[in-house]
Amino acid sequence: MYQFSQDLSQLQQRINTFLTQQLNLDTHPSPLAEAMRYGVLLGGKRIRPFLVYTTGRMLGADLNQLDYAAAGLEAIHAYSLMHDDLPAMDNDTLRRGQPTCHIAFDEASAILAGDALQAFAFEILTQAPLLSAEQKLALVKTLSRAAGMQGMCLGQSLDLISEQKQITLDELEYIHRNKTGALLSAALKMGLICSSHFANQALEQQLQRYAEAIGLAFQVQDDILDIEGESEITGKTIGSDLMADKSTYPKLLGLVGAKQKAQQLYQTAISELENLPFDTAALRAIAEFVVNRKS
Ligand code: IPE
Ligand code: IPE
Ligand code: MG
Ligand code: MG
Ligand code: MG
Repeated sequence: MYQFSQDLSQLQQRINTFLTQQLNLDTHPSPLAEAMRYGVLLGGKRIRPFLVYTTGRMLGADLNQLDYAAAGLEAIHAYSLMHDDLPAMDNDTLRRGQPTCHIAFDEASAILAGDALQAFAFEILTQAPLLSAEQKLALVKTLSRAAGMQGMCLGQSLDLISEQKQITLDELEYIHRNKTGALLSAALKMGLICSSHFANQALEQQLQRYAEAIGLAFQVQDDILDIEGESEITGKTIGSDLMADKSTYPKLLGLVGAKQKAQQLYQTAISELENLPFDTAALRAIAEFVVNRKS
């Protein structure tokens, strides 16, 4: 029987060990590296690394082949959070139960640590010893697309422009698919790229449909937790979206409607896994976690 919480905690430990080694202060001591380590190493659910590892593992890749992709993706995610919390963006002071990076250090340090984490993310993809040059290039292409003007940064920009505005549900979905869904979808694709099924486009499309559903569901649940979560569990300030008058699923659909939306997306995700000729237990379990999580 597949044990989700055990698998999650083992893979969390794995990525934490790997990231700690890669961001070793003994080899690169500097105030900048300290701020980077603060943003990356202190907590985090490691959902994106989990998706890289479990997708790759499902498709026969060795975990040692997946460490670099998982670390690169998590570095981009950590940078996106450090910048997301800045006064010019969401202006938040609590993250992963700790003061946000710009509070613990200062704004310039949080900006530069984010910038350096972005560079680190792509450097580490090039260093995967067990992957071909073609695979590494595909990883760089996938992650850069998902992070930039057709992905996370686009979504973040539209999120900020949409504060204190009434937008349509389609517009909100577009924001959420970009700011959060893009990196979660990249996780599945990066796991695939590290496996021998790398060139299987039908498989890629099927995995992407699953990933798009959980990617959107992840942000719908994040919006719900901003209202009814507990700060001790989320590690963030509750009510941050209301304070900024963000466009969110609960704002547009109400809490009940947002919860229904998350459940519908969960069903879509699960149904996309049905015809896959692989062991999808981990992907089914993480989909459930995404919509029922409290942190
Ligand atoms: C928070 O992401 C930001 C969103 C994209 C919703 P996570 O909920 O994955 O944050 P950590 O990494 O576990 O702290
Ligand atoms: C942020 O969404 C998504 C990112 C790309 C970082 P939120 O602004 O809702 O994330 P939290 O709630 O601060 O973690
Ligand atoms: Mg934000
Ligand atoms: Mg935020
Ligand atoms: Mg949020």
